[in-house]
Amino acid sequence: MSDPAYIIRNYRLEDFDKLVQLWVEVEKLRQACSCTSLQDLVEGLGLPNHFPEKNLFVAEIGGNIVGYLDVMPELNIRRVVLSCLLHPEHRRKGFAKRLIERAVHRARELKVKIAHVNIPQESAMDNRLFSEMGFRFVRHFLELRMDLSEDHLLKINQIASTCRRLRRGEEDKLVQIQNRSFANTWGYSPNIIEEIIYRTSLPNCSPEDIILACDADKPIGYCWTKINFGDKKAISRGKGRIYMLGVDPDHRGKGVGKQVLLASLSHLKSKGIRIVELTVDSENKTACFLYRSLGFEVHTSSLWYEKVLN
Ligand SMILES: CC(C)(COP(=O)(O)OP(=O)(O)OC[C@H]1O[C@@H](n2cnc3c(N)ncnc32)[C@H](O)[C@@H]1OP(=O)(O)O)[C@@H](O)C(=O)NCCC(=O)NCCS
Repeated sequence: MSDPAYIIRNYRLEDFDKLVQLWVEVEKLRQACSCTSLQDLVEGLGLPNHFPEKNLFVAEIGGNIVGYLDVMPELNIRRVVLSCLLHPEHRRKGFAKRLIERAVHRARELKVKIAHVNIPQESAMDNRLFSEMGFRFVRHFLELRMDLSEDHLLKINQIASTCRRLRRGEEDKLVQIQNRSFANTWGYSPNIIEEIIYRTSLPNCSPEDIILACDADKPIGYCWTKINFGDKKAISRGKGRIYMLGVDPDHRGKGVGKQVLLASLSHLKSKGIRIVELTVDSENKTACFLYRSLGFEVHTSSLWYEKVLN
């Protein structure tokens, strides 16, 4: 039974602070409720083609926001990606199902074929919830972690001569190499230049954190690193991220991926980063092999669920 005191409604711009408050409270309770960080959420709100007032739904009670469900449209591949956060003290009230129903309704309005959602593996309640709502498990993703201060990584100390940093004004080159590298990768939605310009202009991102492997001056591989400047806790822990890594299909299997990844780890280390994290599809054998061979280890994992919409 759903408690009617919980109101499900569209997000409004003035809700922003309450949304952040929800995050802060859930984090204090240290619950693994979402695969999206606060930073991902905030960045997503500003993305070109994402209209949060149409695509983000909140659950409210007594003037407080106690849950949200974001519907990120990726119309070029006819899917939406859902991400949600529910306050643990307001579970079992039935409003989560209403949020999901609202999100699925919105997905249908957008005329997409598929809704995907990524859930921490240990969050049994959410895995059950989405299964009950007609979603089925499709993919297992791994969160890998590596400590750059460990001895065996002392060899990572310089950017290889064939690698260089991206320059402002070269965003079109990044769009090309990224879309070529990830074409046919499960769940990848080709980027447009506006998205790349938006993402490379965010406070925690700079073109110089994106390392290119070049053949003459043509990018044939790249590694997009991120340093969490916006998050005081992350910087105190010295955390960075391998956000994207890709090699042009015509240049694979020749060591380019390994080289650009090593150059990127070296770059992160030079910025004072100690812990590096990344997400990889467990079915991506080449990438898993590469990361593990350099010392990355599984930290946590998450499950993707899918609902096919008629
Ligand atoms: C993953 C990717 C970046 C690897 O790039 P690459 O240039 O082909 O990789 P490398 O040639 O540097 O090979 C790296 C290691 O993987 C191994 N490897 C290469 N192809 C492999 C395969 N098909 N299966 C298993 N291992 C493989 C190599 O032997 C090498 O190890 P070694 O140095 O010990 O010999 C590339 O395949 C890619 O762009 N894939 C699509 C995008 C993607 O999935 N990115 C990762 C997202 S997390």
